[in-house]
This record gives sequence, structure tokens and C-alpha cells, in this order.
Amino acid sequence: MKYRAVKGMNDILPEEAERFALVERTFRATVERLGFRELRTPIVEELGLFHKSTGETSEVVQKQMFLLDREREKLALRPEGTPSAARVYIGQSQWAKEPITKWYYIGPMFRAEQPQRGRYRQFHQAGCELYGDPGPLADAEMMHMLYRMTVELGLVGTTLELNSLGGSEARVEYRQRLKAFFSAKLETLSPHAIERLEDNPLRILDSKDPRDIAASEGAPILLDCLSEEDKTHFGEVCAALDELGTPYRVNPRLVRGLDYYTRTCFEISAQTGEIGSQNAILGGGRYDNMIAALGGENVPAIGFAMGLERILLAMPEAKTQSSSLCFFAPLGARAGRAALKLADQLRTQGLTVEVDGRDTSLKAKLRRANSLAAHVAVVLGETELDAGQAQLKLLAEHAQKDVPLSELVETVVRAFEGVRTP
Ligand code: HAM
Repeated sequence: MKYRAVKGMNDILPEEAERFALVERTFRATVERLGFRELRTPIVEELGLFHKSTGETSEVVQKQMFLLDREREKLALRPEGTPSAARVYIGQSQWAKEPITKWYYIGPMFRAEQPQRGRYRQFHQAGCELYGDPGPLADAEMMHMLYRMTVELGLVGTTLELNSLGGSEARVEYRQRLKAFFSAKLETLSPHAIERLEDNPLRILDSKDPRDIAASEGAPILLDCLSEEDKTHFGEVCAALDELGTPYRVNPRLVRGLDYYTRTCFEISAQTGEIGSQNAILGGGRYDNMIAALGGENVPAIGFAMGLERILLAMPEAKTQSSSLCFFAPLGARAGRAALKLADQLRTQGLTVEVDGRDTSLKAKLRRANSLAAHVAVVLGETELDAGQAQLKLLAEHAQKDVPLSELVETVVRAFEGVRTP
């Protein structure tokens, strides 16, 4: 019997892992420039944590949890990173807390979904959480940073959409208005939406069912229920984004699928590459009540998470190709030793170098250099060694030249100028 990976959980082979690493490096560099520091938490948590934060009425908690039953412990694989970070934040002793805390995390998340392109049961998120700043500038700065990151990743044609969900009072009022609106159209709703009418009518607006989409036509708008403070906050978020020149679109129907959001919420979607219908590459927002609801103090918070698989589907191929390899094809033992030494010197200069020491033909070695998409190959045989030189092949340009061994390191390093190193 041959074993396979579990449905919706993917092996990530080296070529793909390099693409992941590239996105992770860009993410780390971007968020560290804004003062976020890395947090690593376990992938298993107490189930109750997600009930209390992600929310009893969210699809994730209702239908998508991977549960682990261990005698009396009720555990779950984390479906998202926000609750774990909040748990750590609350657990820190009071004196250890700065007025503002900024954390980021990267890791696998688990949701028992129906797998399709861009929707998996194990997927990877890179996210940030910021605690202690209630102001609109924090919201705008985070969204602007994300816009910049999408540009750096080569994701053209992305859209940043935002909305304000208001505070709890606005939500209570909005819920009532929505309930009244949809109750009058009960017979046109999907069975799923009818169930949601009681516990969370906002989710009907998020439904992909054509009956619910049609029924949502003309539904009340949340922005109309906002308090004066909520409106001012949202206005200032938009004004700061305008000042920064961040392109965005206010979408009054954006509600997000998790229960904890308050005020600003946002999503970025992409139309590029092979992304298809699961095109939300990241989402986030403010959750000013969660820390207190989990037993902490009254501390405001905002964050986001991006789906690495979806970012990779949206990224243009050229952006993720690595051509930074220097390949040595030595022929014979003496040339092999010389190649090891030169490779060592090149690695100290920051290059990625492979020496093909197999006892095979030059043709076989060069075939491998091509399949690894090496940028240059250095051919070193006994004759070359005796003449004190090597043959340098610039593979992308289909050119070659003889280079004195004493100048080889310098010449190879120069050949890599302007080539992206991963
Ligand atoms: P979320 O919208 O549930 O938010 O997920 C964030 C991103 O994770 C999505 O935009 C998508 O790119 C990716 N994602 C979600 N589910 C899947 C899946 N099944 N397969 C592949 N990718 C997926 C959160 O998780 C919040 N914790 C974000 C946040 C942080 N809000 C405040 N702080």
C-alpha cells in the first residue's frame, strides 16, 4: 500500500519551498522595518480559546476545526494565529508589557474546508498583530505597508477594500436592521442563510449562494449605523491613506468571516497569475474587544494575515525564479579539489555554489547545470588546470570565455552583479 498526503494538505517540494522562502523573506523584511518582532507559538491550542475569540458563530469554529481529543483535554489544531498571539500577550506579566506591542508570525494553519485551488486544509499564513494603539494612523500605516509589499512581490492588479464594522453598539443595531430586512425575504434565502438569521445575519452578506446574493440587494449598510466616534475613526483612516497615496476602495458589504472584528476591516484580492476564484490574498482588521473578552485588560488591537499559497498563485512566475546558482563541473580528481576550494571562496562572497563531483561526462554535468537553471557554470579539466585557467559559461547568454584561475572568483562575482540572490 502506498501512502498519500491527506486531502487538502500539500507536500511542498524544494522548488516550491524556495518560492515560499522568497515571499517569507519579503514579508519579514517589510514588517521588521516597521518594528514588528517574531512570535512562535504551538500549532495545538485548547479548543476553548478559539470558541472565545474566533467566535462561536464563525464558519471556522462551527465547521472547520480539526479537533484532537486526548482523554480529558479538548485540543484543536489552530485555524488562525490571532488567538494564540492574544493568549501570549495576555499571559505576559503586566510589567513586561510595553505600551505598544508589535508581533509577527509565520506558520501552518488548519481548516477542514472542501479543498480546491487556493483553498487547503493545511495552509500557511504570515501575519502581524499590534496591541495598544487605538488610533486610525495604526490602521492606515498597516494597510499602506501591505500595499507596498504587494507591489514588491510583483502583484499587479490587486485591490485593497476596506469597511468599518463599528463598535459593539453599531453592530447590535445593524444586526437588528439586517434581521428585519432578511426576515421579509425568508422564502428567497438559502437554508444556510435562514440558520444564520438568528446567530449572525452579517454572514448572509458574505454568502456565495446566488439566492442570498440576490436577496442581499438593497440590504441596509453598516456605515449608516456607525456612531460619531466610529465615523471619525474611519474618516481619519481614509484621510491618512489618501495622504500616503494608497489606492483603496470602500466596500460597505465587506464583513469578514471571523467574529471578533470592530471598526476597520480590510482585504486585499488579486486578479493576477493563476489565483482563480479564491482570490483574497490577505485579510485583517481591528479587534478592540478581544483582549478583554479573553480575560486581559481593555487593550485595542489590529492585525492581518496573508495566505502564502494564495500569494504564490498570484505572483508572476518570473518573480519567483531563482537564477543565482554558480555551478562547477570539474573533470578528474585534481580539478575536483581545485573546484572545492574555489567554491568555498565564492560562498564566502555570498554566492550559492554547487560542485558536481560525480564521475560522469561533461555533457551530463552541464545537463544538470541547465536543469538547475544555474546562472554560470565553471568547467575545470586537467588541461585547463595545467594552463592555469577555467572555462566560464554564462548560461543565460549562451556565451563562454577562458578566465585565469587567479581572476576566477572576481570574474564570477562580477557575473552575478544585478542578479537577484534569494
Ligand atoms: P482570514 O481572512 O480567515 O483571517 O485568513 C487570512 C488569509 O489566509 C486569507 O485572506 C487567505 O489568503 C488565507 N486563507 C484562509 N483560509 C485559507 C485556506 N483554507 N487555504 C488557503 N489560504 C487560506 C485570519 O485568519 C485572521 N487571523 C487575520 C487577522 C489577523 N485579523 C486580525 N489579525
